Amino acid sequence: MSATTARRAVIKGTGSALPRTRVSNEQLSERVDTTDEWIVERTGIRFRHIAEDDETTSSLATLSAKEALAAAEMTPADIDLIVVATATPDQTFPATATIVQNDLGCNGCVAFDVAAVCSGFLYALSVAESMIRAGSAQNAIVIGAETFSRILDWEDRATCVLFGDGAGAVILSGEETDKGVLATRLHADGAHNQLLYVDGGAGTTGTVGKLRMKGREVFRHAVVNLSSVLIEALEAAGETSDNIDWVVPHQANARILDATAKKLGLDPAKVIKTVDQHANTSAASVPLALDAAVRDGRIKRDDLLVLEAMGGGFTWGASVIRY
Ligand code: COA
Repeated sequence: MSATTARRAVIKGTGSALPRTRVSNEQLSERVDTTDEWIVERTGIRFRHIAEDDETTSSLATLSAKEALAAAEMTPADIDLIVVATATPDQTFPATATIVQNDLGCNGCVAFDVAAVCSGFLYALSVAESMIRAGSAQNAIVIGAETFSRILDWEDRATCVLFGDGAGAVILSGEETDKGVLATRLHADGAHNQLLYVDGGAGTTGTVGKLRMKGREVFRHAVVNLSSVLIEALEAAGETSDNIDWVVPHQANARILDATAKKLGLDPAKVIKTVDQHANTSAASVPLALDAAVRDGRIKRDDLLVLEAMGGGFTWGASVIRY
């Protein structure tokens, strides 16, 4: 079904950035009590990129933004809004978005961060898209960027093998069109804070803290929440799952992707999977997967996309986009 023409936010370009150092499961097993076999079987992960000392959330974010600007054939001067989704900001404050803004050289425009952990990119996209639809922004950079390696407990093999670092970005522009972001649905349920959290913070311990997770319970909630929000967003867009060209999911675990696709009766070949190469990069994972599939030619103009994610809080959401 074709949407009505209205002021909508259209994706004009995508970009991504990964730290220089790529670490295989084999390499990881030299410092952590684990095996390639266990990690691949339980998660589908084979590699993750880990930031070196000179690589930060903002530096990765800036690189991804530059790539997205080039793809959109735009310059920093065209941008009037920057939203960075991250749970690993360079500093407690200022917002990482302001560091990115200064590095890009588009000082003066609106710039702020959004914290919704692994769903952060969906939340950031929704905020930017709403501002564009309302007419308070024209061209936005929306970035998901993380250096989760810095909040991992490298003694906890049940969590440290699962995550990686990286950044992905999209340029959104306001246009009168029947394409672009058609509908987004977001949710949060703080009753589950203790299943996936960081055991420190500026306002409590005064430290950054380490990631803690009850993996099994998170898994169970993820499949249920992702399936329901995907259907909800499709209904809001007036679309059905048969019309989906590509699902671009949060890349936490290949088994979550497979179980969610199965529950919804989706063809697994329509689900973009980068978890084997990137592991779970939290807010960066959806835009990293999107950029990979745009650049290798799988995602084409006019394709119907569903982006979805779930993360700590819990938070979860889905967005239906005519690319
Ligand atoms: N290497 C080897 N063994 C490991 C291991 C590792 N890296 N991590 C855990 N194990 C062991 C455990 O010690 C346990 O051993 P035991 O049975 O002798 O006690 C066994 O593997 C099973 O552990 P468990 O945690 O119950 O495994 P699981 O089947 O639930 O798989 C996850 C663990 C984390 C892969 C799985 O729960 C998961 O993917 N959860 C979702 C997590 C997620 O995606 N979160 C992010 C959402 S944003």
